Amino acid sequence: MVSVRGLVKRFGDRTVLQSIDLEVAQGEVVAIMGSSGGGKTTLLRCICGLLEPSEGSVFVDGIDVIQNAEEARRRMGMVFQSAALFDYMNVQDNVLFGIRRQLRLKKDKQLQVAYDVLRRVGLDGEGAKMPAELSGGMRKRVGIARALALNPRVLLYDEPTTGLDPITAYTIDSLIVDVCKEFHVTSVVVSHDVSSVYRVADRIAFLHEGHLIFDGTPTDFAKAQDASIRELVRKAQATTLAEPA
Ligand SMILES: Nc1ncnc2c1ncn2[C@@H]1O[C@H](COP(=O)(O)OP(=O)(O)OP(=O)(O)O)[C@@H](O)[C@H]1O
Ligand SMILES: [Mg+2]
Repeated sequence: MVSVRGLVKRFGDRTVLQSIDLEVAQGEVVAIMGSSGGGKTTLLRCICGLLEPSEGSVFVDGIDVIQNAEEARRRMGMVFQSAALFDYMNVQDNVLFGIRRQLRLKKDKQLQVAYDVLRRVGLDGEGAKMPAELSGGMRKRVGIARALALNPRVLLYDEPTTGLDPITAYTIDSLIVDVCKEFHVTSVVVSHDVSSVYRVADRIAFLHEGHLIFDGTPTDFAKAQDASIRELVRKAQATTLAEPA
């Protein structure tokens, strides 16, 4: 469903991603871990066509994201780290915004879709609230609802649990897994948080200084004898703990 081949991304003379190969099968949840500044968000942005790779290719559902960005993007939903909500719009309008722009639906059908996705993410009856009135976990849920409303085949999550308390993080992880099963969406989840990754991922890819240094099952990851991976996991975890709520 997602195929990244030989992807290189440079900013000026700085190479942030160095020849990344990554395949994600239909229905799979792949977690991308790695140290801060390791290039995780950059990789996610290249996958969804927000950034153009310097070299290599990205295919999503068989569509070349570089040649055909608009068509590819219609198959993808992105849940941004900050949730990226419009602060001046209530929850329902935040969800309706994408529906109005991208789906050709009658008004009552648009409202129905917004209602359904908000209910699905556990925000039944919260449509009139403004983003400032929401908890961190609720904001993430709105971000997920907004992406889900467009019926994506692939969902890309950037740090969905960072800054959340452990219990809220747990509920968001469960939502990611449930949504994946229920809607048959393929998911790529960027995360620092090891316990969260173990809860959601079928596979873990670990990025370090622009290289993919591990790609395998959570069991293999837990067993990885590589001292550098162990040290990096420890550091990534420490970064999470140090992040402000
Ligand atoms: N648009 C840009 N222009 C120039 N440099 C960039 C740009 N976007 C990212 N970078 C650089 O690329 C590197 C990787 O950034 P990226 O945001 O992908 O890391 P990350 O793994 O997501 O880190 P974090 O865990 O802190 O979110 C960083 O050094 C960053 O400064
Ligand atoms: Mg990032």
